[in-house]
Amino acid sequence: MAEVGTNIQKASAYLKEGLLVAIPTETVYGLAGNALDVKSVGTIFETKNRPSFDPLILHVASLEQVNQFVTAFPEKLKRLAEAFWPGPLTVLLPRKASVPDLVTSGLDRVAVRVPNHPLTLELLAQLDFPLAAPSANPFGYISPTQAAHVAAQLGTQIPYILDGGACAVGLESTIVGMEEEQVMIYRLGGLDISEIESLVGPVTVQVNSTSNPNAPGQLVSHYAPRKPLVLGNLTELVPQLIQQGKKVGVLSFSTHFPSFAANRQVILSASRDLKEAAHRLFMAMRILDESDAELIVAEFVPEIGLGRAINDRLKRAAAQPIH
Ligand code: TXA
Ligand code: MG
Repeated sequence: MAEVGTNIQKASAYLKEGLLVAIPTETVYGLAGNALDVKSVGTIFETKNRPSFDPLILHVASLEQVNQFVTAFPEKLKRLAEAFWPGPLTVLLPRKASVPDLVTSGLDRVAVRVPNHPLTLELLAQLDFPLAAPSANPFGYISPTQAAHVAAQLGTQIPYILDGGACAVGLESTIVGMEEEQVMIYRLGGLDISEIESLVGPVTVQVNSTSNPNAPGQLVSHYAPRKPLVLGNLTELVPQLIQQGKKVGVLSFSTHFPSFAANRQVILSASRDLKEAAHRLFMAMRILDESDAELIVAEFVPEIGLGRAINDRLKRAAAQPIH
């Protein structure tokens, strides 16, 4: 069983040996390995049960380090990196041959980010290689936002979990890249699009495709609980399902259902704060998945700011599961 602790030396020793360590970031926990060691990278795919056509993000300590791995850094993307790193932004850039094919699944761009967590930044500063790190969950399941989530699912497969507490943002990074002169968003995430647009002007959002060659991991069904998740109007759905004798778990934005069992009800933000809702979303899905509910019903949050990324995750969780 993985040891859970805050010992950076231990984490770095395991990584140098080619083993995997779960690391905290501001978005979600990552399952990290030496990105330049093909064997470690292979172990990441095996441990997560992830198809090898779904590439990994390279995590580095600073913007300066990115030049070792890319052949160009377009001005607009650099502006974003300068403004938001360390932070929940991933940038797709043309890669150098120094990045193993397995990391990019053979694509000619590599995804790079500087995560914003003091333990992980210190760890990265001690290593002379970048970390490849997908979210530390079995492929297709809900991303972990606490060390205990990682321990529950991958604990028997890795030696160490670096415990950085609950992830501040709670949603994966926003993925950006360029096509011609246009800034593209390939995954909605923890960085609000309006913050990006305030620096580089209007962007094109290209997510939600089953076979998007630019972000192949954006499968429609993803981030999903094991139980069926249904999206709709809760005030209509909940009484209907209860009348049918169903044990329902309720995931609401802000509404409390007084007649309803407390252990099968999670409110994302009583004050309707989208940041708080994002922070709690994956934890809420886990609580309901682990409850005695047979199915989970959820509602969309307002489609503004971080709400777009929250709704994106809810839709993927509601799509027909792949497992
Ligand atoms: O917030 C995050 O980004 C977290 C933390 C751990 O950093 N990581 C994360 O990794 O969410 P993962 O592997 O679960 O999701 C990475 C996404 C996938 O959808 C993948 O397809 C896409 O990034 N991606 C990675 N490299 C790519 C590339 N070269 N071209 C296109 N898409 C890429
Ligand atoms: Mg993931």
